Amino acid sequence: MDAPSRFYVTTPIYYVNDKPHIGHAYTTILADVLARYHRLLGVPTWFLTGTDEHGQKVQRAAEENGISPQEQCDRTVVRFLGLWEKLDITCDDFIRTTESRHIEVVQGILQDLYDRGEIYADDYQGWYCVPCERFFTEKDLVGDKCPECGRAVERLVERNYFFRMSRYQDWLVEHIRTHPDFIRPEHRRQETLGFLRQPLGDLCISRPKARLAWGIELPFDSDYVTYVWFDALINYISAVGYGKDPETFRRWWPASMQLIGKDILTTHTVYWPIMLRAVGLPMPDTVFAHGWWLVGKDKMSKSLGNVVNPMEMAERYGADAFRYFLMAEMTLGQDASFTEQAFVTRYNADLANDLGNLASRVLKMVFRHFDGKMPPKPPPKESDAPLREAALSAAREMEKVLRQMQLDRGMARVMAAVREGNRYFEKSAPWKLTAPENRAQLGGVLYNTAECLRIVSGLFYPVMPERMGLLRQALGIAEEPVGPRLELLQEWGGLGPGGACRPLKALFPRIDVRAKSVIATAASGKPGAKREPAGESKEQIDLETFGRMQLRTAVVLEAERVEGAKKLLKLRIDLGDEQRQLVAGVAEHYRPEELTGKTIVVVANLKPAVIRGVESQGMLLAAKAGKALRLLTVDGEVPPGADIS
Ligand code: ME8
Ligand code: MG
Repeated sequence: MDAPSRFYVTTPIYYVNDKPHIGHAYTTILADVLARYHRLLGVPTWFLTGTDEHGQKVQRAAEENGISPQEQCDRTVVRFLGLWEKLDITCDDFIRTTESRHIEVVQGILQDLYDRGEIYADDYQGWYCVPCERFFTEKDLVGDKCPECGRAVERLVERNYFFRMSRYQDWLVEHIRTHPDFIRPEHRRQETLGFLRQPLGDLCISRPKARLAWGIELPFDSDYVTYVWFDALINYISAVGYGKDPETFRRWWPASMQLIGKDILTTHTVYWPIMLRAVGLPMPDTVFAHGWWLVGKDKMSKSLGNVVNPMEMAERYGADAFRYFLMAEMTLGQDASFTEQAFVTRYNADLANDLGNLASRVLKMVFRHFDGKMPPKPPPKESDAPLREAALSAAREMEKVLRQMQLDRGMARVMAAVREGNRYFEKSAPWKLTAPENRAQLGGVLYNTAECLRIVSGLFYPVMPERMGLLRQALGIAEEPVGPRLELLQEWGGLGPGGACRPLKALFPRIDVRAKSVIATAASGKPGAKREPAGESKEQIDLETFGRMQLRTAVVLEAERVEGAKKLLKLRIDLGDEQRQLVAGVAEHYRPEELTGKTIVVVANLKPAVIRGVESQGMLLAAKAGKALRLLTVDGEVPPGADIS
């Protein structure tokens, strides 16, 4: 691919009305990953993020917190900065819209547009959505609610200033038609074109101070402040020196990639290009709208209480693992679902089992048999061709997926190379090659596997900079200051012989979902424990709550011990219409062969869990009293899958 001559990537600037959530973290990590890949390609890169500090949302939050709006900003911005540090975000600049470098540019643009008749005063009647801070016409409303967020709108009539957006409609449609990459993915481009099939009104860009004081004052009328979106969008140019530092500005503008969530498509693909056009500036190459993180199947919201705190996730599992999950799990352009369960499952499968394990096995053998020095590169053999091909094709593919914004696909290719590495290692069985006469062969296997890991760690470096940096050091790679160059990952044999490896602690320690969460006990039976008299238990449930639990009978088909876990048995069970695997903490009470053929009772609609690396799709019921544990079963013959109610 022809590498671009420069790469300027932006994220939306985030509102400081509340602390950052997973959506903010996602867009910023995505920008960081793209920026880091471009740096590895040797492309001069500029990565901008920041905060949107004016407007009603922030003013409201300040009022609720009993502080000034500026204080609201100052208190919240540190939470964003702290999170970016925790998540290893390498932004080149962080802009706050309350900074004078931004305010001056906004006022300069407003004055210029006003002087040239692009902005005029008029009376305005409309419906206003406070949370979205946008006016809508009668026909915009859905029912009588805001078309963006579905909440109630307020009727307002007032004198205001307007930006002549309507006169640019035909130009914009033409620009979008002739620049297929301007709005991506394609379905978002169609969405904007659809929006532009109706006549475009002019944009109200002022707010009377009497109603909203927290904003940038209009340079030509001190009774008004600037509409927050008109102010905010300008950050993308004020931050790179528009109107102040022509050299820097020419170097970076137009932006290469402006990342947004699908919620702010209209502002970025209608208002923003028209603003740029009116000012006389070129359009960004691409505005890319990614999809939505849902929590399970639900929209994330404060009222549902399901907002995912990225700081907590990074603290619990490490920034790299969190970055990996977000990048691997979301197909760009589509929605994705976040649950801690899915996170743990993917972490254990991809990072702990496949990648971490391979790295530690190879390095242990290099230390044990080669004194920690990388053995020499062996001549290529037929048997290692699939390994080479998996690694090299992942490296080639990475440039393509970057251009096409298909990061999840690229990462799946890298993971496939890791799995090929595991297959190769297993098939070559280096632990059987430890006799002196097999030394060259042993060295070859370790070299090839390590070389695969060199390429893999380089390709994953932008996603997991800290852990992959450690792995590369452990492999004895003397790193250039910026990390691995992508071109060096596209050739086999980069590991030098005799390179001094370093011992590697577990890269991705396995996350144990504790066994005890899988045993339900019919009675809490600590001997002597005080029991609530029947009918007086504090918490009673109704039939409907009970009915949400799907209890069914199942027949145990197979049972075996879980390696390394003395309490656990892995069961294959027949639920009548399907077979499932279940992990149960009953090994100290039942031998595996005692269980096969038994009819048991299981909670069939329990979310799957991973226990000691083994998936458990449900839970069996048992009664426990002191040291005794007995399984629940049914009185007489019933087929598997029978409902229990
Ligand atoms: O809209 N899934 O700021 P904001 C994925 N200040 N991404 C999400 C998300 C989710 N559930 N929720 C939010 C604003 N995002 C304006 C922008 S730009 C000139 C002004 C991400 O704090 C996504 O990138 O509401 C979305 O566009 C952004 O956060 C909105 O952040
Ligand atoms: Mg928002």
